[in-house]
Amino acid sequence: MSNSIKISPSILSADFSKLGEEVISLDKAGADYIHVDVMDGHFVPNITIGPEVIKNLRPLTKKTFDVHLMISQVDRHIEGFANAGADIITFHPEATDDVKKTINLIKKNRKKVGISLKPKSSISLVKDYLEEIDLVLIMSVEPGFGGQKFMPEVIEKLKEIKKIVTEKNLNIDLEIDGGINFSNCKSVKEAGANVLVSGSAIFNENNGDLKKNINLLREAS
Ligand code: DX5
Ligand code: ZN
Repeated sequence: MSNSIKISPSILSADFSKLGEEVISLDKAGADYIHVDVMDGHFVPNITIGPEVIKNLRPLTKKTFDVHLMISQVDRHIEGFANAGADIITFHPEATDDVKKTINLIKKNRKKVGISLKPKSSISLVKDYLEEIDLVLIMSVEPGFGGQKFMPEVIEKLKEIKKIVTEKNLNIDLEIDGGINFSNCKSVKEAGANVLVSGSAIFNENNGDLKKNINLLREAS
């Protein structure tokens, strides 16, 4: 994974009545990844979409589907999301009883592996696996909903992970997810994030000018 800044718009903030058109618009607007928030109403209080929806979105774009699984018993669903067209499958360590097994299951399905840390989840949950994964997703809101306020306390965690990744000379994406907007995107990049997820800022700012909002997030320095 190269460490240039990538923007991964979250379709959780899209108009679900026309999700296909929204994905095509994000593609045309220059999104690097498409962030797909999967929620099961158990691991998090909200329910969103499953593999069938991803399967229907897959033919509409060649962009990377950056699938964020906020679901329990995640191993049961890896193959389904892989076959549906996910490119990166990111899971929460609290959603499996064996992190290594889940990593290997995602690799067996020939997909890139991400591990996601909730704001209060410790780095210790991911530290031992950094050499085996492609992406660490640092959540800057409690998982479950778009449009929440950025939690600045996660910046320290981001810096700590960046330090470890740099010391080990690992080429993995550091993704920040939750409440990212034009006023905090500079600080999260400086702290080490190279993939910025954003839902409400991209879909709602500047009258929903997707291209402008994606460029503003990518270029703010
Ligand atoms: C929250 C999701 C985030 C969220 C980001 O549980 O994982 O990806 O959709 O949306 P904003 O940018 O509005 O916080
Ligand atoms: Zn997400």
